[in-house]
Amino acid sequence: MTFAAPRFVRYVADASRLPLPGTLNWLTVAERSELDFWKNSIRRTQWLSGRWLAKRMISRSVTISQLSRIEILSRDANGLGTRPRIAIDGKRRHASLSISHAGQSILVGWSRSGRRIGVDLAVDVPQNKTFHTAWFSASERDWIDVQPKQRTPIIWGLKEAIFKACGDTHKWNPAAVTVDSFDHNLVRAALRGKRLPRFSTWIRSNHNGTAAVVWQTQDNTEVALCS
Ligand SMILES: CC(C)(COP(=O)(O)OP(=O)(O)OC[C@H]1O[C@@H](n2cnc3c(N)ncnc32)[C@H](O)[C@@H]1OP(=O)(O)O)[C@@H](O)C(=O)NCCC(=O)NCCS
Repeated sequence: MTFAAPRFVRYVADASRLPLPGTLNWLTVAERSELDFWKNSIRRTQWLSGRWLAKRMISRSVTISQLSRIEILSRDANGLGTRPRIAIDGKRRHASLSISHAGQSILVGWSRSGRRIGVDLAVDVPQNKTFHTAWFSASERDWIDVQPKQRTPIIWGLKEAIFKACGDTHKWNPAAVTVDSFDHNLVRAALRGKRLPRFSTWIRSNHNGTAAVVWQTQDNTEVALCS
């Protein structure tokens, strides 16, 4: 069966409950070598859980049952993080994938059309003035100041999700992404002063923080959530 939906987002609150395979033979050689980069056991588990979830979403979408035929890499030759790159049977696919972890929680966004998608779990975002002045623009601070506790993680999550969707070869710099307006599930933003295409958003907050998803769109439809 092939799923026609162009976008999927999956959120898992407790990744320790995922039925991850007992061996690593669902990973390619390059993926295993990327996993070796991580020594910390929590980070290794996050990497594995994100890969497993993402591969399952892609495998259903493109009707491939063997997860080892799908390769997802997110490090460059210098070991720096990059937007996840997808290959199937060794051939690069121009679909868009984004992954975020926070503790045991995982958020994955997948767009088979290749339209940009970015996700972020914004947890424990500092609320103090120094942090706000360093990373938020004056208009972002005005918006945040109405309800700082609720709005700080929203803007932070949007910035990071937008960076993941649209970032280039520059390093992550929260001040480089500015959220110019955010209304009715639509966000207008700029990267280093350059206006980006309009994004639709899906945002959910609780007392721990915010899950933010952005995807490039021409309409304002909700993303399909399968969790
Ligand atoms: C993007 C970034 C800020 C997210 O950090 P974080 O909030 O601690 O972590 P999150 O859990 O939300 O996101 C991590 C995931 O983001 C993805 N990611 C990493 N770098 C990314 C980038 N440049 N663009 C898009 N996605 C990226 C990866 O899939 C990673 O998960 P994985 O390693 O398990 O595959 C951080 O990974 C980063 O600084 N990356 C950029 C590194 C860099 O400067 N690279 C050179 C330019 S490309």
